[in-house]
Amino acid sequence: MTTGSFDALDVAALIERYDRPGPRYTSYPTAVEFHDGFGADEYRARLASAATAADRPLSLYVHVPFCESRCAYCGCAVVATRKREVAATYLTYLEREIAMLAAALGGRRRVVQYHWGGGTPTYLSLEQIARLDAIVQRHFDISPDAERAIEIDPRVTTRAQITLLRRLGFNRLSFGVQDFSPAVQEAIQRHQTEAETHDLYWAAREAGFESINFDLVYGLPRQTVRSFERTLERVVDMRPDRIAVYSYAHVPWLRPNQKTIDPLDLPDAQVKRQLLGAAIEVFTRAGYDSIGMDHFALPDDELATAARDRRLRRNFMGYTTQSAPDSVAVGMSAIGDVAGAFSQNHKSLARYYEAIDAGRFPVERGYALTDDDRLRRFVIAELMCNFQLDRADVRERFGVELDDYFAAELAALAEPGGPVSDGLLEMHPGGLRVTARGRLFVRNVCMAFDRYPAAHQGRPVFSRTI
Ligand SMILES: C[S@@+](CC[C@H](N)C(=O)[O-])C[C@H]1O[C@@H](n2cnc3c(N)ncnc32)[C@H](O)[C@@H]1O
Ligand code: SF4
Repeated sequence: MTTGSFDALDVAALIERYDRPGPRYTSYPTAVEFHDGFGADEYRARLASAATAADRPLSLYVHVPFCESRCAYCGCAVVATRKREVAATYLTYLEREIAMLAAALGGRRRVVQYHWGGGTPTYLSLEQIARLDAIVQRHFDISPDAERAIEIDPRVTTRAQITLLRRLGFNRLSFGVQDFSPAVQEAIQRHQTEAETHDLYWAAREAGFESINFDLVYGLPRQTVRSFERTLERVVDMRPDRIAVYSYAHVPWLRPNQKTIDPLDLPDAQVKRQLLGAAIEVFTRAGYDSIGMDHFALPDDELATAARDRRLRRNFMGYTTQSAPDSVAVGMSAIGDVAGAFSQNHKSLARYYEAIDAGRFPVERGYALTDDDRLRRFVIAELMCNFQLDRADVRERFGVELDDYFAAELAALAEPGGPVSDGLLEMHPGGLRVTARGRLFVRNVCMAFDRYPAAHQGRPVFSRTI
């Protein structure tokens, strides 16, 4: 199998050299740098600052942490329970948090990106879904052209829920698919037939959803290139508009549910590379464009257009074209990004409830960005989203010369045996460009611009880069 103009042996050597723990850069600095010196009071001050620009649009994320059971591979913040009444209690707290947030932001603010994630948002009943959306709409003004997205687990989502979501104005669905192979599904404790995914997909199309994403994961236990190719073929037969192919993050020290996965069942870095290669090949052949680090989209999809125009953005909700300057997030463990600071809510329901009962924002920790962080964040985001960085952009936005400010970083990248000499990164008069072969290693290139030691010490806080 080929995935570019370079041969397999060459790639094997590169993987050997570059495969190490490293951040996925959904934020910079990464969540590892968040600390409890940033809490509810600091968050309130940031909201007050954001309130002074009340006409600026917002992104709004709502976290619904519940799942009926915990999949063994899952790395998300989840509460596994079949006791439906817990969701009813949770909604009452979400309602209070949303009201408190809207008041602190100075009234009804306009939202251009509205996203429900989880856990499993469709754990909620029809009434609860309608109620939660009504609570949000009471306090926020969702733009008519907003991206309104929700994560769907096809195993528990009904046609009635799909119809309701469409009626409420949701316009994007993201299906959790992962892998159709029964052996893999057994190993990850997630049994999901092709038929149920297929039926729900067509129900969503019939309900009028024009934008559907599928999430797949490569590097799962017992995954083989052949079995994964079969999943990929079934997926392109359905023709979702977007496909995310995440590299499996095996972090059992952070997610104890992953301890049930036998490490001997995990594909090694070489096989992982072939699995990703298979995805690139099948999707490219089926007419999809490769977007950012691990996404694919049909050429007329907004993400594909934005990628061609270099307008792609990335935040905690993933790649987007609609990212607003401030992202607010509600619910257990949710992460916001407001007025130059990240804030994360409590990761246990008890502590989340306790803070709201005390009339406080339920913030556990956060991080206020420095000017240096902001510049590095821009550099890393450009490389991750658009695979290039313009010297002129850096000069215009930050008033510094790339070569002066990052002299040490650029020298390290250009060292023999580094990304430039390995053909992963090109330096040219206009700036930097990640090459086609470098895309697989873009996290490693970004790590050169990360000034925090956690990214460089190989500490077991991050998943592996390949
Ligand atoms: C919150 S989950 C999905 C929503 C829904 N609960 C479901 O499972 O269908 C979002 C996505 O994260 C991805 N994901 C979860 N755990 C992961 C892990 N350990 N490594 C990589 N991706 C992971 C999966 O692709 C999953 O669909
Ligand atoms: S993968 Fe989805 S359904 Fe499974 S535990 Fe994680 S959030 Fe829940």
